[in-house]
Amino acid sequence: MANDSSVLFQPIRIGNMEIKNRLAVPPMGNGFVPSAGGGVSRRHLKYYETRARGGFGLIISEMVTVDREMGLRAPTLLCLHDDSLIPGFKELASTVHQYGAKLAIQIVESRAAISKVRFCILVVVGLYSVSSRLSTGCGT
Ligand SMILES: Cc1cc2nc3c(=O)[nH]c(=O)nc-3n(C[C@H](O)[C@H](O)[C@H](O)COP(=O)(O)O)c2cc1C
Repeated sequence: MANDSSVLFQPIRIGNMEIKNRLAVPPMGNGFVPSAGGGVSRRHLKYYETRARGGFGLIISEMVTVDREMGLRAPTLLCLHDDSLIPGFKELASTVHQYGAKLAIQIVESRAAISKVRFCILVVVGLYSVSSRLSTGCGT
């Protein structure tokens, strides 16, 4: 795949970050959260690693909530509402980085119906304190 000369396999920039090709995994929920309010699991690591190993340049995670209540109401929703959940996401980022892929986290936050979620995509270049960085708000 790396030797293909199609534009699909050419690098592209998002801001100052280079993505190695134009192949992206869209966000897809998978039910790999072990329990309500749960974070990144072993199954998540394997699932996303497989896509990174396969050559995708950008991997967009499934929906990740930064709202504790929302996570508890939707038991299959991956959660990042607490700093204790950061190490799992760090491991996930490191896992896909090993293959040269970038990881974006699809963040959702809603106290209303899940169908009306506000979301944004955060490209993970590093992970910071959830409370200090994710409370600034994002797109509607
Ligand atoms: C099982 C499954 C789970 C999905 N989960 C999400 C999700 O968490 N967030 C999201 O924005 N889209 C989600 N989608 C929508 C996909 O990202 C979307 O189908 C994909 O981008 C392809 O776009 P298309 O359906 O318009 O061809 C999901 C789709 C499937 C099939």
